[in-house]
Amino acid sequence: MTKHVVLVGMMGAGKSSVGRRVAARLVWPFSDSDAVVEARYGRTVAAIWRDDGEEAFRVMETDALREALEDPTPSVIAAAGGTVLDAKNRKAMQEADAVVIWLRADPDTLAGRVRHGDHRPLLDDDAATTLKRLNDERLELYTEVADAVIDVDDLDLDEAVARVLAEVEAHG
Ligand code: S3P
Repeated sequence: MTKHVVLVGMMGAGKSSVGRRVAARLVWPFSDSDAVVEARYGRTVAAIWRDDGEEAFRVMETDALREALEDPTPSVIAAAGGTVLDAKNRKAMQEADAVVIWLRADPDTLAGRVRHGDHRPLLDDDAATTLKRLNDERLELYTEVADAVIDVDDLDLDEAVARVLAEVEAHG
């Protein structure tokens, strides 16, 4: 097993919490594109979004994703929900030495699970409606990049971690 593990999917799917545990089990580094951007610029995603705009944020998250994918040391990467919007990012994920796993969940599940933190300005208003709309817009994009899909609606954290590890093994 020498490939990066990239977790994709909507806000609230569990990419960061699952990814952190998968990395611990593999004893691999873990990176989260939102956290990388926030650390690099010393501002929250919400502040960047407010002050510089979404477009500027998308460039920053693209850089964070690309750097993680290009790192020769295998790692677990939680790719923020919007990284798939850019065709160049989708191509980079597909061409990288990586297994891309989509944590798929129904919008109702996402709305029930998602925490509205400082890194989710899109959920400022009606989170459930926004999640449904974004999910509809992005389904095709997650499908395009995914080597494997895990339906997490009925899985708890430990079960989701076990399923990811099984996919990593299968695609290793
Ligand atoms: C976004 C997802 C968020 C964060 C930003 C925008 C999106 O990351 O990058 O709020 O467009 O789906 P998570 O998927 O880690 O919550």
